[in-house]
Amino acid sequence: MKHKKLVIGLFGFGVVGEGLYKVLLQTPSLNATIRKVCIKDAAKKRNAPASLFTDDKNEVLQDEEINLIVELIDDSEAAFQIVKSALESHRPVVSANKKMIADHLPELLELQQATGTSFLYEAACCASIPVIRNLEEYYDNDLLHSINAVINGSTNFILTKMFDENLPFKEALLLAQQLGFAESDPRLDIEGWDALNKWSFLLTHAYGILVKKNELVFNGIQLITHHDAQVAVHLGYSIKLIAGAKKLSNGKVAAYILPRFVKNDDLFNSIKNEYNGVVVESSFADKQFFYGKGAGSFPTASAVLSDISALRYNYKYEYKKLYHHQVGELTQDFYVKVYVSFADWKYIPKDDFESIEEWHSNDQRSDLTGIIHFEKLANSDWWKTNEVSLILYPDDIIESMDVVKVKKRSLELAGFAG
Ligand code: HSE
Repeated sequence: MKHKKLVIGLFGFGVVGEGLYKVLLQTPSLNATIRKVCIKDAAKKRNAPASLFTDDKNEVLQDEEINLIVELIDDSEAAFQIVKSALESHRPVVSANKKMIADHLPELLELQQATGTSFLYEAACCASIPVIRNLEEYYDNDLLHSINAVINGSTNFILTKMFDENLPFKEALLLAQQLGFAESDPRLDIEGWDALNKWSFLLTHAYGILVKKNELVFNGIQLITHHDAQVAVHLGYSIKLIAGAKKLSNGKVAAYILPRFVKNDDLFNSIKNEYNGVVVESSFADKQFFYGKGAGSFPTASAVLSDISALRYNYKYEYKKLYHHQVGELTQDFYVKVYVSFADWKYIPKDDFESIEEWHSNDQRSDLTGIIHFEKLANSDWWKTNEVSLILYPDDIIESMDVVKVKKRSLELAGFAG
């Protein structure tokens, strides 16, 4: 069977857009060509024939020959208007704009339903790793116990350079920017916003939860200090920015994006530089690990290419877990074991902790290890301000304090604890 010819209208010619242009030139078998590229500054010299470019979006959106829109621009609101207009004219869209998807998912769902038109965005999370399609097609909601992931390449790159090569934070960031991994405003990476955007819609595909971004507890790596890195190394850990989600025994889902200690022999510690990784745990398959480049021109373009290819078969996300299963629900009713480091005890609400197991102090910095109810973190920001740094321990989620108390009591009975 001959596939239909795809005539692409492309928005954006940055790191990913230009990557896609080159990748398509090397994939003639796809039978897809770029007819027009809309960019902000049509006069700027580019590595493609000048006749391809326009700065008038209507030249692309109203071109009857174009049967597929690929949206790869930075501005999320302008991107949404482009996607909306394309879907309303029944033209499928491929996008990599995580912020736009996170900010507009309910409207995008409605548009897909009303128009019956495909909207694919595999490149928007974990770039080259096919995580959305796997969550959609392979994992049944009931079987998915947990999904934990490194989903921001820039922060992972910076942490790797800091831990493995002793590079200062600023130098590592500059390198991530030069290599085209970082967002135009790198605070979006460093402070966790980019990971928040990605995780919010990944939770829809994983658990059928429509997440409001302000419901998710998140942070980035901006507060991690040299002291924390030294403590981590001393304990046999490294630090990763982890997006975590776990289905608790009551069926509700615990989720967050926070720095976490990972053991040196943990799968997460093998994720270096701009790579991303996703660890899925399910009832029968047990643990599975997806690994691949999470940022950069060609890895991201490869996911866009795969979506373009899937459109030859009119592939659509069915959002099965949202529409056909019992819709998932987030909870903050669980406990986490945390490491907190700080310059002054006055910033630490000691009474918020269920228990503080240990603490250390030196002239510059103190740190403690304790257990805290997650809702207490969700409803406060002391752990994101005043140079306080909070890192989760590896076995992070504790469903009930009873378990901790029973463990402690049995240690006491056995004579191990005072
Ligand atoms: N700035 C993003 C990252 C690019 O570093 O992961 C890929 O989404």
